[in-house]
Amino acid sequence: MQAQQENNYSSSSYTKEEISKLESRYQFCGHPLRITRDFSSNLGISAIIWEAGLVLCRYFEQEKISFSGKKVIELGSGTGIVGILAALLGGDVTLTDQLMVLNQIQFNITNNIPVSIQQRAKVSTLLWGDNLDQFPINYDFILGSDIVYNSRDFPALIKTLQHLSNQNTVIYLCSKMRESMGAIEFHEKLLPQHFNTEIVHRTADKEINVFKVTKKGLDAIENPLM
Ligand SMILES: C[S@@+](CC[C@H](N)C(=O)[O-])C[C@H]1O[C@@H](n2cnc3c(N)ncnc32)[C@H](O)[C@@H]1O
Repeated sequence: MQAQQENNYSSSSYTKEEISKLESRYQFCGHPLRITRDFSSNLGISAIIWEAGLVLCRYFEQEKISFSGKKVIELGSGTGIVGILAALLGGDVTLTDQLMVLNQIQFNITNNIPVSIQQRAKVSTLLWGDNLDQFPINYDFILGSDIVYNSRDFPALIKTLQHLSNQNTVIYLCSKMRESMGAIEFHEKLLPQHFNTEIVHRTADKEINVFKVTKKGLDAIENPLM
């Protein structure tokens, strides 16, 4: 069941003609990236390369973060740029999003990760809070850029982070701190109820933060004063 879930998407699902050619080029950690956004499928916000994603990639570069040999999952991958970089940096990465977005992610995996190591990047549907039992709980890293913007999703997002993480999991969330969309409430009130969280990077305009998040011990959750 597990293997099936993590491999439930095939690279043969798209044709090159199906993906419109709007390509943006970047370079992180010495890896050139060509990221294509699929405007032919009405993907909306998933067909944008969000600034928070680029900030998180730059953070990995500046901090020389290695994912070598690590088990990684990305939530709300969008174009896949963050998860693809994590795979190029050695991670065994599952890039997740809503089903309709997987074609775009797989296209970018195929275009950016050499065939010899493409098995490091798998795509899978993961709707926050849904069917979590199909995913393991032994990830070394959980990544998410610009996934904190809809307060209705916050309980499901926290449930997802709780399920996928253990005491050793490092979660990197990169968020644009839009108060009107609840990002401040999520990061300052909701997330700290269950996780230790610290800002490890902030853009010069202070609009985007990278948070390093780890699961609180059971004692801390049962007795927050400890
Ligand atoms: C603002 S985009 C960010 C995309 C990408 N991480 C980036 O930084 O460019 C948010 C992504 O989260 C996904 N998403 C939103 N709600 C979701 C949910 N409930 N379950 C799974 N994915 C969701 C969207 O499909 C979208 O691709």
